[in-house]
Amino acid sequence: MDEKEAKAEIERLKKEINYHNYRYYVLDSPAITDAEYDRLMRQLEALEVKYPQFITPDSPTQRIGAAPLAAFGTITHTMPMLSLNNAFTVEEAQEFDSRVKRTLKLSPDEKIEYAAEPKMDGLAVELVYEDGIFIKGSTRGDGYVGEDVTQNLRTIKTIPLSLHPHGGKAGPPKYIEIRGEVFLPLESFRKINREKEAKGELPFANPRNAAAGSLRQLNPKITASRPLDIFCYGVGTAEGVTFKTHYQSLQFIKDLGLKVNPFVKVAAGIDEVLEYHREMEEKREKLNYELDGVVIKVNDLGLQNRLGVLTRSPRWALAYKFAPKQESTRVKNIFVGVGRTGALTPVAFLEPVNVGGVTIERATLHNLDEVERKDVRVGDSVIVQRAGDVIPEIVSVLTDKRPPHAKPFRMPERCPECDSAVERIGAIHFCTGGLLCPAQLKESIRHFASKRAMDIEGLGEMHVEQLVNEGLVKDVADLYYLKKDDLLTLARWGEKSVDNLLNAIDVSKKRTLERFIYALGINGVGEHMARILAERFGSIDNLMQASMEELLNVYEIGPGTAESIVDFFKEAHNRQVIEKIKKAGVNIPEKKAKEEGRLTGKKFIFTGALESFTRDEAQELVESEGAEAVSAISRKIDYVVAGAEAGSKLDKARKLGLKIIDEQEFKKLIGRP
Ligand code: IVH
Repeated sequence: MDEKEAKAEIERLKKEINYHNYRYYVLDSPAITDAEYDRLMRQLEALEVKYPQFITPDSPTQRIGAAPLAAFGTITHTMPMLSLNNAFTVEEAQEFDSRVKRTLKLSPDEKIEYAAEPKMDGLAVELVYEDGIFIKGSTRGDGYVGEDVTQNLRTIKTIPLSLHPHGGKAGPPKYIEIRGEVFLPLESFRKINREKEAKGELPFANPRNAAAGSLRQLNPKITASRPLDIFCYGVGTAEGVTFKTHYQSLQFIKDLGLKVNPFVKVAAGIDEVLEYHREMEEKREKLNYELDGVVIKVNDLGLQNRLGVLTRSPRWALAYKFAPKQESTRVKNIFVGVGRTGALTPVAFLEPVNVGGVTIERATLHNLDEVERKDVRVGDSVIVQRAGDVIPEIVSVLTDKRPPHAKPFRMPERCPECDSAVERIGAIHFCTGGLLCPAQLKESIRHFASKRAMDIEGLGEMHVEQLVNEGLVKDVADLYYLKKDDLLTLARWGEKSVDNLLNAIDVSKKRTLERFIYALGINGVGEHMARILAERFGSIDNLMQASMEELLNVYEIGPGTAESIVDFFKEAHNRQVIEKIKKAGVNIPEKKAKEEGRLTGKKFIFTGALESFTRDEAQELVESEGAEAVSAISRKIDYVVAGAEAGSKLDKARKLGLKIIDEQEFKKLIGRP
């Protein structure tokens, strides 16, 4: 192939891959298999390595890999990014409608046409395309000047790097700014928080913070590892296109290949808007992203112009918020818990209160700064809310209801569990007792035995408590040396429960490598990272010997995690514990390379209960064969495994015409008749 042919081939591959990206990520309707897609990518990469002069910014190979920045640059918005006035009640929404009519000198019975849209709870960004190519993007910032997050935006798969030719004629506009909301799907939010907690890090308080924290990362690799998404909701400056209505502009950007929320609609008059608000408030519970209201915009752009802008928000738009999931209750006490990493976490114990259908009895206060900022005291009346539908948090204190003599909270100077000194690192206080601290030891054993780690059934919190307090378990390896006679001496243990536990411990000797790695509780190594390490290093011995360099060579491993892995295995005590575990006959199978599985590239989803496996076991089985188990239904799924009492996923699968198999067929497929 000569240079000219190479250039043409690169162009062709780019177009084809960008098209398939769009089908997969934006339309959720892939036209080729993942394997075919990977092959195209590899072809393109190979050509670009040989002919680097033809690498362009819109090449799909350029989404990731940019070097970390020292600081973000700034981008001045050519048109300010405005904010919205809020309404919280039907009356306020009606008042907005009346004001619009008054300003436009229309009669009160006339109906204004509104574009009604979900209000996504993420962070606003602006994308700039020149001649159809994504050239830069920024956060909203103060509305006038935002941060240049171009490299990070490039990693978001639903942001096209080049736009579709519009309508097949003129091509995309010469210049266009598109505005939208970047968000993190709830499922990913929960997963990231689980991993953060496993690492002993502070979880994100809500999906919006998680999205902002992920996008405003100086290292684009971290952003790339967070499955951010976007819904576009407007156009800023544009050259070479004009629209009559806002809705038309959304249709236009959708045709350019950008993602627009599917629930956007045109409402004839405020009553339809109110109806839409009610509908969306119900739908919101079922969505995989957070909404905090609906946005209504006068649809006619001519009318928008006449209405104009009031300092920082337009007179033609309104954010009509949903009722927040908040309640008030009282703080009964504040306890300080000690986690696996020794982090001290203040937790508020509350008078039980029902918030949006869930009873809340405690709320994490994260750390001392957080308690001080909110000034939460024992006896206070507080407002609690559920964010991202998971973590209850205290929003504010009703200080005028504060009982007299309520004292400010103080962090203990010594560990409440082992009396070791407490030291502060950044925002977090740590117990310096290490595994000598029974709380840390108990937490690490609990983690080791937990369902998603070694899954030692029957080793509950109370048992761990007892085993450590009685001195029978001083490290996790001791679990494998427990003797029946010793256990029988413990209070409340009978022959049967002892046998069950010993049996469960025995069964756990054959867990997968990734579970074992996860179970070790290395700082920074959650389930996802454990899987990557298992796949990459294949055995615990290889991982123990891995150098900083080798670890850093693995995509997705950052310097912090690499260092903590190396440190963990350098520590003599940890090596001894692993040796001791191995000596006890724990036999962690080595991992075969992913490609060898007979189900490589296939996607599975499980719904309903299976008889022969738990959900986790079934997922592991397919993963060990190279397939992927997913939890959200989509057209990309190859097999829907339906067990007893399969629910709405099964209905959806039928509608999508997916391949549905029962447990028998599933067993056949994985070779376990
Ligand atoms: S329109 C002048 N539409 O809400 C119009 N904003 O409080 C300005 N947002 O900064 C924005 N969904 O981050 C608009 N469908 C939507 C939206 C939306 C979420 C956010 C956006 C904006 C904030 C305004």
